[in-house]
Amino acid sequence: MTIIRQTTEAMALYKLLRPLAFMLDAEPAHRGTIAALSVLPRLPLPKFATQLHQKVAGLNFPSPVGLAAGFDKDAEAPDAILGLGFGFVEIGTVTPKPQAGNPKPRLFRLKEDRAVINRMGFNSGGQAAALERLRKRDRRGIVGVNIGANKDSEDRIADYVAGVKAMSPVADYLTVNISSPNTPGLRNLQAGGELVELLAAVREARTPGIPVFLKVAPDLESGDHERIVQAAVESGIDALIVSNTTISRPPLKSPHAGEAGGLSGRPLKELALDQLRQFYVATGGQLPLIAAGGIETAEDAWERITAGANLVQLYSAMVFEGPGIARRIASGLEQRLRRSGMSEIAEAVGSR
Ligand SMILES: Cc1cc2nc3c(=O)[nH]c(=O)nc-3n(C[C@H](O)[C@H](O)[C@H](O)COP(=O)(O)O)c2cc1C
Repeated sequence: MTIIRQTTEAMALYKLLRPLAFMLDAEPAHRGTIAALSVLPRLPLPKFATQLHQKVAGLNFPSPVGLAAGFDKDAEAPDAILGLGFGFVEIGTVTPKPQAGNPKPRLFRLKEDRAVINRMGFNSGGQAAALERLRKRDRRGIVGVNIGANKDSEDRIADYVAGVKAMSPVADYLTVNISSPNTPGLRNLQAGGELVELLAAVREARTPGIPVFLKVAPDLESGDHERIVQAAVESGIDALIVSNTTISRPPLKSPHAGEAGGLSGRPLKELALDQLRQFYVATGGQLPLIAAGGIETAEDAWERITAGANLVQLYSAMVFEGPGIARRIASGLEQRLRRSGMSEIAEAVGSR
């Protein structure tokens, strides 16, 4: 009861504050949200219906709906986010050294398109600061750590190795993010030889028992899926996150449509779903998939799950819908599952 009341209050507050927040530029509004969340009293972890529980990569996920990386880059509020109704949260991307990211403005809301364009460029307080914060928390709920490379790094693979080593003690899982479009050349790591080399180095550095996920871009060509899956399977990657933001530009209405950077939210939905389907075929269901990109409703989440995703993540829809979105999608999934006659969410994975 208390959790429901607190969440309802948080949502009512969000509805009240949203017009105000939308008067601010996107980045100060986001900063304010993180600052507010980081001082919230710790909410108890929400309880989800047992039908939504699922074991993926050895971890017990209480709900398949997670918060995607990029919202809490520096691990300032993972417990508050879990308390809002997410089944897991991915902090980061964190880079080995602190770095400022790209010049501002670099984050744009495309209200008319229910989309976001960002070219943040891995602004990060660095791994040591995130490590310190995560060390101080009582571990409960699933918190993944998304790792990246510094822009000025001379050896990007070494940056990922450093991230795996540094963050493993505080991570329930790690995500190797090679798909941000905002660090020049980063996505080249998705290419054949480099990917194999990177994943071999990660394999060598990892701690047994901490799953490692690989996050890919949606802007892939035919043949890439099989190649990435083969490299991932051979190097013991535990799941793929499909996908990051896109550099493509489907038709957009917003005045910010011409901004450079990665596009997310509703206009990414079809592309991300298509990529997920291609990865499901390429994996033959052998490697867990985590879907991201334009997920706004329980129907969207159900579509991804039945297309082969074990879990889903979202970010942009929360900008427009507020923090009640995770709980709404989880309860919509529970109803959808009941209607389908299936008894647990794992049964729905790839069922279409
Ligand atoms: C402002 C912003 C910053 C992001 N930063 C990161 C990041 O640091 N690392 C990462 O892996 N993904 C990042 N992402 C991508 C999201 O995690 C997600 O993959 C993508 O936005 C698609 O989901 P969505 O359509 O629900 O937003 C960012 C997205 C946004 C909107």
